[in-house]
Amino acid sequence: MTDNTVRQLHSDLPDLQSYWMPFTGNRYFKDNPRIIDRAQGMYCYTHDGKKLLDAVAGLWCCNAGHCHPKIVEAIQKQAETLDYSMAFQLGHPKVFEMANKLTDIAPDGLDYAFFVNSGSEAVDTALKIALAYHRIRGQGERTRFIGREKGYHGVGFGGISVGGLSPNRKMFGAMLPGVDHLPHTHNLEHNAFSRGLPEWGAHLADELENIVALHDASTIAAVIVEPVAGSAGVIVPPRGYLKKLRQICDRHGILLIFDEVICGFGRVGETFAATRFEVTPDLMTLAKGLTSGTVPMGAVLAKSEIYDTFMTGPEGAIELFHGYTYSGHPLAAAAGCATLDVYNNEGLYERARSLEDYFADALHSLKGEPNVIDVRNIGLIGAIELQGIEGQPTARAMQVFRECYDNGLIIRTTGDTLAFSPPLIIEKEQIDFVVDTVKTALRNQ
Ligand SMILES: Cc1ncc(COP(=O)(O)O)c(C=O)c1O
Repeated sequence: MTDNTVRQLHSDLPDLQSYWMPFTGNRYFKDNPRIIDRAQGMYCYTHDGKKLLDAVAGLWCCNAGHCHPKIVEAIQKQAETLDYSMAFQLGHPKVFEMANKLTDIAPDGLDYAFFVNSGSEAVDTALKIALAYHRIRGQGERTRFIGREKGYHGVGFGGISVGGLSPNRKMFGAMLPGVDHLPHTHNLEHNAFSRGLPEWGAHLADELENIVALHDASTIAAVIVEPVAGSAGVIVPPRGYLKKLRQICDRHGILLIFDEVICGFGRVGETFAATRFEVTPDLMTLAKGLTSGTVPMGAVLAKSEIYDTFMTGPEGAIELFHGYTYSGHPLAAAAGCATLDVYNNEGLYERARSLEDYFADALHSLKGEPNVIDVRNIGLIGAIELQGIEGQPTARAMQVFRECYDNGLIIRTTGDTLAFSPPLIIEKEQIDFVVDTVKTALRNQ
């Protein structure tokens, strides 16, 4: 079908020709467009009149629900007051307010915030801070990074290098040199249908000792992991696993970076995964829920010790040669301040925790449905892994995705796993709707 035919069939559609869509089958999409033109609360509305319950919070980001009036108002007000001011050598009030609000809720010791525009930028920024930190301290030979198989850390060169999802890497050839990977902890033989933290798998953190022995600690700058891996299909850390990583990093002077781009802001039933799992990293990357998805913004939180290490050169000199034109953009900072207030005032972190059991029961009720080989959950994040169709990886999950969409539900697929990360405002009846709709779709395959 040509694009002209597409336009005739859907006369109220925009012209789809020129936009090269990210992480999307462009040709399929343009033949079968799904255009969201409005959203409110838990729902998105399409160009052709569909109302869809959003069980993914946009893309794991709209934690306060769509178009929250307080956040919308803050953005509007900011747009009228200050559109932009130079991000280097000048400041504006909202970005300082945002940094203070954010570090107030951060785990103890993470007292400084560096702002960026996305999760990918947050990751590359954290990696650069780690390198520079060691160099300033006279340990410039610490240049290696350790990521983890199945990790997703965005799409910058740093992020895909430490990331462990092969489709995101193999198109691009050379990666950052000197990167090694921990084994992932996804294991259906031991952990299938675990509720919350799996009991099996903490020993996999010990592999870090072997990697350290191989390369020597003096060459390793940082370890980066998602506390709960999101994009690989929701891999919940085995009980005790993150604490072990922390201990091994401490033993060898290696920085620990938690990529909480998905985990942060209530998603795992606490403000941050670091809080929930009682492990404080040296650097933490954030984005997505930081502004509830309204205006692009990311952040790197750093321990005081790291910040202080940079504050040692000549007074007046730039301490970190890094930053973006839009670091701490006024609209993003205004959206972020309002978002953090909404989370706090509406008790959304607590709400996520209080719904966790209901959400878990609902998802786990799908055990035994056709092709369901695992259900995983923590906080308001969950996954259902399906037996793939022989020779057609991802096809089964896509079929379920399409059927759910036709029946009023947005879910996310990754490989043959269905992922769920609803806004933290979801109601119990809406959780029931999610599960019933998925059940019907599974039975119809
Ligand atoms: C853990 C993690 N890190 C980094 C990113 C990249 O964020 P962005 O898409 O905003 O660049 C993502 C996005 O899903 C993520 O899940």
